[in-house]
Amino acid sequence: MTTYTTAWKSPSNIALVKYWGKKPEGVQIPSNASISFTLSNCATTTKLTFTEQEDLEITVLLEGKEEPDFIPKIEQFLHRISRIFSFVLKGKYTVDTSNSFPHSSGIASSASGMSALSLCICDIAKEKGLLAEEDFNQTASILARLGSGSASRSVYGPMGQWGEHSDYEGSSDEFAIPYSDINSVYADYCDTILLVHRGQKTVSSTVGHGLLTDNPYAPARFAQAQENMTAMKAILKSGDLDAFIALVESEALTLHSLMMSSNPYFILMKPNTLKIIEAIWEKREKDGVKWCFTLDAGANVHFLYPQADKVAAQDFINEELAQYCENGAFIHDEVGMGSERI
Ligand code: PMV
Repeated sequence: MTTYTTAWKSPSNIALVKYWGKKPEGVQIPSNASISFTLSNCATTTKLTFTEQEDLEITVLLEGKEEPDFIPKIEQFLHRISRIFSFVLKGKYTVDTSNSFPHSSGIASSASGMSALSLCICDIAKEKGLLAEEDFNQTASILARLGSGSASRSVYGPMGQWGEHSDYEGSSDEFAIPYSDINSVYADYCDTILLVHRGQKTVSSTVGHGLLTDNPYAPARFAQAQENMTAMKAILKSGDLDAFIALVESEALTLHSLMMSSNPYFILMKPNTLKIIEAIWEKREKDGVKWCFTLDAGANVHFLYPQADKVAAQDFINEELAQYCENGAFIHDEVGMGSERI
């Protein structure tokens, strides 16, 4: 009965063109392609100890404390990936995980968490002689996708692209690919996450994705997202920040409009989400700054600005935006280089 120990640190990511909706066929196959900035500071570190045994046994530690609530999600994940690596259902797991961002900050840890765990499992598969080095990252991204779609993109920096698209060579619905054909302005772009609401989301992203099936706007949205991916490719290459702002903000509001037009409808934004958006728009109108926002499936706002504007943008956060954050909390982050073995 061999024991394997491994550890990975994997970052969160923020999509610019959003994944929202899954194809009916397959498991976790996106209805449209997406692309994200990989972050640097918001990350999950997972240490996995795996001992071979006949049945499946899982212990999860979050920040050193047992967290049985995570077990069903991990168990479901292991069943899904057992078609790729059957050994995963025969073992005793200790998943010792911690997040660099505060627990219940409202920041989703599923992308960073699922990619960190997937990379750990790939390490074990490699040690068992079941995975070649040249297939390592792609397989990790496939596993991560099966845990949480957006997690597939967290394997790579500075950007991750997931979902088949004719403009993105090598793209696939099954796994993400690294994307770095970008203007230098984006290589160290800043993202301050403004923590508007730290509580649990009222509707999970799993449920949210599912509601797209009957949303009458969904087919138009999926077509629009594919077109936006084409536009985004040119914007990332040229560094045209006005076009970047227009596309990124439109994507964020489209994501939330899909939630509002689902049946049952729901709203994840809070009044202060809108206050922040208005303050950013006002500032842009007044001073011509190239700062914008995007949103995840939640109330928090990702405030995006170029590295060159860091001091001024962070002054603006302290003076104008922090008042709309719960307990004045926000997290400064920027584009990062992806996952690392530790
Ligand atoms: O990975 P999931 O199933 O939690 O979906 C996340 C979807 C968004 O974060 C809203 C958008 C995206 O592409 O990351």
